Amino acid sequence: MTRELKKLQKAARFLQKRTTISPKIGLVLGSGLSDALGKLEREERFPWERIPYFPQPTVVGHAGEWVLGILEKKPVLVSRGRVHFYEGYSMSELAFPIRVMKLMGIERVILTNAAGAINKDFSVGDFVLIRDHINLIPDNPLRGENISELGPRFPNLLDAYSARLRALAKEAAQGVGLDLKEGVYIATPGPMYETPAEIEAYRRLGADLVGMSTVPEVIAARHCGLEVLAISLVTNMAAGIGTDKLTHEEVLEITKRRAGDLAKLLRAIVAKL
Ligand code: HPA
Repeated sequence: MTRELKKLQKAARFLQKRTTISPKIGLVLGSGLSDALGKLEREERFPWERIPYFPQPTVVGHAGEWVLGILEKKPVLVSRGRVHFYEGYSMSELAFPIRVMKLMGIERVILTNAAGAINKDFSVGDFVLIRDHINLIPDNPLRGENISELGPRFPNLLDAYSARLRALAKEAAQGVGLDLKEGVYIATPGPMYETPAEIEAYRRLGADLVGMSTVPEVIAARHCGLEVLAISLVTNMAAGIGTDKLTHEEVLEITKRRAGDLAKLLRAIVAKL
């Protein structure tokens, strides 16, 4: 057994000993979205600093706790906030929470993020299902010794973003009167926003959205067999696409404005899972 797996097991056991809730669904609420769901029923909160070996957050606007509770009559684990590559974490640190979810019995994860729109058919405030990704982060959570108890050395990323869950999410969105688009997400290491030339290059590569998160988690999740659904909130048009100033404050403002609808969408999806 690898040392990493021992740490993961310690973190999972720490939580399991302290909760009566055994969720099958995990939700990760990204930049500015960490409060979107409000309070859960039977909510039990675990600040990251209390969980053994958890990476600690550093960026303003990112909370840092796991909340276990009931949402739409289902036991869920909600990560309020996430950690990012640009904060200086290693890719295995970014994978850590996802792998702990797996060891706690989670079967599917819903990841959310704020993203810039490259596709001109998208608008600020849109919700977009991620259909596939392109990874520009120059590392990978699976590099190094494989944790064979979690998954294979050479996992594939076909249907990484479950077609089944995407269809279900579209139905759920329709049910609550929300528009849900679909696109390809390109992950950059950040933390700076892109140049217009980079965005044009990414557009030609086939990307519709750009952001600085999610992909490391998806790779880790697929490696250990979790089913993945990922939703971007378009907080700005990407560099050179619109007239946006591209500031973190602007991103946070849009997330605040759309948090209510995101909660509606997530609840509708969870109700169908
Ligand atoms: N680029 C990268 N990451 C982002 C953006 C963007 O334009 N908007 C929100 N996250």
